Amino acid sequence: MSEAIIQALSDEEISAIENEIAHLPDRESAAIEALQIVQKARGWISDESLNAIASLLGMSAAALDSIATFYNLIHRSPVGRHVIMVCDSVSCYVMGCQNVNTALQDHLQIKPGETTPDGKFTLIPIVCLGACDRAPVMLIDEDLVGDVRPDALESILSGYE
Ligand code: FES
Repeated sequence: MSEAIIQALSDEEISAIENEIAHLPDRESAAIEALQIVQKARGWISDESLNAIASLLGMSAAALDSIATFYNLIHRSPVGRHVIMVCDSVSCYVMGCQNVNTALQDHLQIKPGETTPDGKFTLIPIVCLGACDRAPVMLIDEDLVGDVRPDALESILSGYE
């Protein structure tokens, strides 16, 4: 294994990625899992992390970057401690996601794509989260929150330190 990979990724990250690879037909097939492992540990995927993961998987950084960009749950720039993603696809739109978005922006005093000055929350729009029957829906970190009402947001967010 190259020195650059060892310097850029922790032993735990490398071993978790190797564990995923062991269950798959080839190393490249672990691309999304590898990105998720590193993002879980670091919050986002820097260029340095991306290059190291690509080397570990035996693929080009450009190919891995296009997977990371396509898969919109991977962050390629720094985010806050908690990431709030509000679905803005059709079912959620019909059920009033714009009211949720407006209330969130008012409460957090940030626009979509921004992070609160205390580094606590980042707000990101996202396409359908596959829970349309619970629209409007948002994802806070790994928690799916359905039937979101703007007046419940303050209490929902108070559960995140
Ligand atoms: S449209 Fe929002 S979860 Fe499907």
